[in-house]
Amino acid sequence: MSNTQNNTSSGFTHEKVETSNFLMIVLILLVVAIGGLVEIVPLFFQKSTTEAVQGLKPYTPLQLAGRDIYVREGCYNCHSQMIRPFRAETLRYGHYSVAGEFVYDHPFQWGSKRTGPDLHRVGGKYSDEWHRIHLNNPRDVVPESNMPAYPWLEKTQLDPAVSAPHMKALRTVGVPYTDEEIAGAAEQVKGKTEMDALVAYLQVLGRTLR
Ligand code: HEC
Repeated sequence: MSNTQNNTSSGFTHEKVETSNFLMIVLILLVVAIGGLVEIVPLFFQKSTTEAVQGLKPYTPLQLAGRDIYVREGCYNCHSQMIRPFRAETLRYGHYSVAGEFVYDHPFQWGSKRTGPDLHRVGGKYSDEWHRIHLNNPRDVVPESNMPAYPWLEKTQLDPAVSAPHMKALRTVGVPYTDEEIAGAAEQVKGKTEMDALVAYLQVLGRTLR
């Protein structure tokens, strides 16, 4: 009795799939796509990944401007903002990162490249003054540091005109800014430097959950 002959009548045998490159590729893609959807789609609806953790506040106009500078200067090339749920990580950095902490981040700055330490819970770790000295020239506080210096930050003023449009744009993707907050944004960043903004941003990182 040869069982390879058993199913030939249906016209669609396993042997056909295994010997046809085309069928094999198409069916593998189909299975992977379904598997992917089953894993990914529920994340869009789960509370633990879509709702802000308790107490999370949207960035203030100054912090938001600082976040833009963080992105502009490419800090993410050397720093992640994602503490993994492993003992070695939580001992060093504190509570592991959870999705609900990033719902107001567009785009999030998780990253994976760590030339420097993770920054997700750096908020409150140092004084503002430490950050100013460090960003101006890291070697002044950490002699062996190979982080670049950012001396122009304290010499450059913020442009107050960009805050309100930025906040409005964020509101369209779900960040709950009120009309009053948006109207008062320019006033809050007027006269501040890029250094003020970046330090304000660093100091709020990861402080909701700790
Ligand atoms: C070329 C890689 C590199 C880049 C780019 C970089 N850093 Fe760093 N950073 C480091 C390294 C290495 C350290 C550890 C030594 C030190 O403290 O200076 C560090 C340390 C830090 C620390 C102290 C963290 C801690 O827990 O002690 C902060 C804060 C920081 N960086 C912020 C920034 C910001 C903000 C930017 C962008 C403006 C930036 N870094 C860009 C490499 C980098």
